[in-house]
Amino acid sequence: MAFILKKLSRRGFVGGALIGAVAAKAALAQTVTAESPLGPFFPTGYRGETDADLTRIAGHAQRAKGQVIEVNGRVLDRHGQPISGARLDIWQANAAGRYSHPEDPAIMPLDPDFQGYASIHTGSDGSWKLTTIKPGSYDSPIGTRTPHIHLDVNGVKSRNILQMYFPEDEALNRKDMLYNALGDSAPTSVARALGDHRYDWDIVLIEG
Ligand SMILES: [Fe+2]
Repeated sequence: MAFILKKLSRRGFVGGALIGAVAAKAALAQTVTAESPLGPFFPTGYRGETDADLTRIAGHAQRAKGQVIEVNGRVLDRHGQPISGARLDIWQANAAGRYSHPEDPAIMPLDPDFQGYASIHTGSDGSWKLTTIKPGSYDSPIGTRTPHIHLDVNGVKSRNILQMYFPEDEALNRKDMLYNALGDSAPTSVARALGDHRYDWDIVLIEG
């Protein structure tokens, strides 16, 4: 009897381990978001507002020029677990395709009402939200850059520098050298359009 019980419990253990292994494999299905170059326009020395709404600056009567968009997402580890307190440093060109950066050679106009940088943190459920304008495309030494938003994401154990692209720009994305350099991972960098100028984009870090 003891032998049978032992055998049963052993079978139970093996079965449980198998189920656990299958579950773990399923949880590993998250694809890590493709890493992109930092680029030359990280706003070192920035002294302005860093809140999650880039379209409004305190004391300015005007809102930033361009199409207002909203991006919602989460930061996850590769097991799909949300990362609380991850820091996202975010920067982008304005609607005309110009960075508020002294090294940007573009002749497109600056927008004094556009906050070109934000530094935000994820909530306890790993979520983050950004209100901004759709960035313009711009010429660069490596060819035309398709519209994109830069992010430097610091999780608990991992850091990833990313660029988010827009699904409606697929034709332009395909001509962008940095987008193409992502190869098969490129789709991890494209947000999902939810309609009404809203987007959804989850970021997956290797170790969270
Ligand atoms: Fe850029």
